[in-house]
Amino acid sequence: MTTSPNNYVPRHIGIVMDGNGRWAKARHRPRSFGHNAGRKAVREVVEGCLRHGVQALTLFAFSSENWQRPEEEVGALLDLFVRALDKEVDELHGNGVRLRFIGDLDAFEKPLQRRMLEAMRRTAGNDKLHMNIAVNYGGRWDIVQAARKAAMAVARGDLAIEAIDEAAFDRWTSLSEVPPLDLFIRTGGDRRVSNFLLWQLAYAELYFTDTLWPDFNQISLQHAINDFARRERRFGRTGDQVAQA
Ligand code: IPE
Ligand code: IPE
Ligand code: MG
Repeated sequence: MTTSPNNYVPRHIGIVMDGNGRWAKARHRPRSFGHNAGRKAVREVVEGCLRHGVQALTLFAFSSENWQRPEEEVGALLDLFVRALDKEVDELHGNGVRLRFIGDLDAFEKPLQRRMLEAMRRTAGNDKLHMNIAVNYGGRWDIVQAARKAAMAVARGDLAIEAIDEAAFDRWTSLSEVPPLDLFIRTGGDRRVSNFLLWQLAYAELYFTDTLWPDFNQISLQHAINDFARRERRFGRTGDQVAQA
């Protein structure tokens, strides 16, 4: 059944961290309790990625659609980001993690923006793991902002229209300079992408698990990586071609 396992650790893992609300509900606690509990899962995944030598990890923390949630929940999430930034950056930095926030950061209040920029600046020289946190992020937004940058370069006269190809376009997206997305994971049981990394998903392997995000740990990550390692990635070729290569 597994003809040609690809035998390698994903270079870049993207995760839709879903299921916090249901996890809290099952415990008769407010949804924010679940978001808070999700922090442990983030630590577990970072540790797991460092251990396996995964080069990049992109986490979906707040989508451009999540503003539609009750004001109280949005407020609790933003508070959580501030507290997490104040508490976790030292350790991430100590572990050689480069932190980046992707998304339309202008929508956040200035103190939160400052904390994000400061964390990015401080960890910019690190190279063990490139950790990207998607906040006020949407895959369509990312494609549109890249298209705008391309259009601006053309309008300035710095770029010929013919020079816009896939590789050039990729450089304007939020995750340029990050290895290709190999593995997409979504926790919480739903099988959808919810406007996460649309451009980068082109050839990612998809992995869905019913585990709710606060319960996700290093063993869960190991399961996902093992599953990935059994996939035959053909990229349009035939299985025989892949076996010969
Ligand atoms: C994911 O968990 C976290 C965010 C979207 C911020 P949810 O809050 O969506 O949890 P469920 O899906 O309602 O259980
Ligand atoms: C996706 O989860 C966004 C994040 C995990 C941050 P949602 O819970 O918002 O997705 P939908 O609404 O179920 O598609
Ligand atoms: Mg959800």
